[in-house]
Amino acid sequence: MESYHISGGKTLEGEYRLKGAKNAVLPILAATIISGRTSRIKNCPRLSDIRTMMAILEEMGCGVSWDGSDILVDSSPVNSFRIPQKLMKEIRSSVFLMGPTLARCGQVILSDPGGCAIGKRPIDIHLAALRLLGVDIAEKDGLLECRAKSLKGAVIPLSFPSVGATENVMMAAVMAEGETRILNPAKEPEIVDLQNYLTSCGADITGAGTEEIRIIGGLPLHETEYEPIPDRIEAGTILTAAAAVRGKVLLKGAAPEHMDSVLDCLEESGCKIWRQDHSVYLEASSPLKAVKPIETRPYPGFPTDMQSQFMALMCLAEGTTEITEAIFENRFKHVAELNRMGARIRIAGKTAMIEGVESLRGQRVTAADLRGGAALVIAGLAAEGDTIVENISHIDRGYDRLEDILTGLGARIERVVEP
Ligand code: EPZ
Repeated sequence: MESYHISGGKTLEGEYRLKGAKNAVLPILAATIISGRTSRIKNCPRLSDIRTMMAILEEMGCGVSWDGSDILVDSSPVNSFRIPQKLMKEIRSSVFLMGPTLARCGQVILSDPGGCAIGKRPIDIHLAALRLLGVDIAEKDGLLECRAKSLKGAVIPLSFPSVGATENVMMAAVMAEGETRILNPAKEPEIVDLQNYLTSCGADITGAGTEEIRIIGGLPLHETEYEPIPDRIEAGTILTAAAAVRGKVLLKGAAPEHMDSVLDCLEESGCKIWRQDHSVYLEASSPLKAVKPIETRPYPGFPTDMQSQFMALMCLAEGTTEITEAIFENRFKHVAELNRMGARIRIAGKTAMIEGVESLRGQRVTAADLRGGAALVIAGLAAEGDTIVENISHIDRGYDRLEDILTGLGARIERVVEP
């Protein structure tokens, strides 16, 4: 098992260029199956989740390879519509393969992805939507068998703007007869990015990012080269870390327009922020202040994927902040660990009350999930003394060697293989 050893109290200063967004690259990789041609996906981070998605595509018959930080996928030799169970269990986003495999093969067999550390995460909205496109879904021997003689365009109202369900329907509808209209879809920037990747292959999709997405299905697709959007959660994590240690950081290759809710909260806490076209600069010189109550919401609301990192920051702010986690039912696992570092956080139902303290103290703590792990790293950077964060394989799922990014900005953090 690997862990991070962090010596706290060092400020962060300098610049960093962002990589492609994990939550854009994963659905785009799944979508490469549809065209049956070659896709070059540029500027991809080397994350364990991305490696697993590549391994699944390979098992389904695709030619998959790295070319520098680009991923090349040739999906012409696809020869299976079964999502390998073992790999499926490793990453939840393997469920994004339902839509594209149905579009390409007319059928898909997969195991229920099940829950993960942050919640039960059912796929009922995905299944209900695919049924409206004419997909028959049967559960057999613990597997979901989904078949469609032919996918038919339909009007699909989503009961909740689920990111994954919106993406699965978009990808299946690319090969459905006629028009599909998705009502109440998710509006995350990653949804718009998937639309742009699919249209770069020749698909006809409009409206991503708005209240209605329209897809005209059945158009021939061709090979493409595509550069996904930068990772707004990687960006938010680095800026929040800099704020926690009164740092000055310039992020290059950023899309500040995707990060308003987080940047507004950082400004409200006392940080100075400069938004440029493709960069964000943060300077945190004055004492941190508590902010107005935050509730995690679908985009453009405050992202649940930044809840734990921002909570770590508010541990050191003057005053009390309330953060309500309204998206996932089990995403406060970092709270007990932060309290062991001297934080004062009380939980009432879905809401955490964070009473700011003067300082945190170094501690041996354990990451229970991806973003919670990042929050413990932020707390360790700001704490007095040394912190050891165990179970960093969770963190590797969403950050490409976080220790190198932070060391490049002046932190004292190293990856250690525990005996
Ligand atoms: C995506 O997950 C992201 N993952 C998550 O990021 C992110 O937290 C989430 O969207 C919300 O923004 C990727 O893009 C790979 P949802 P997804 O479907 O698609 C419930 C990270 O840290 N729901 O929008 O799984 C569900 O249980 C990860 O990078 C149903 O009830 O999210 C949850 O409570 C973590 N039934 C809520 O909706 C369904 O059929 C939001 O889920 C589908 C979802």
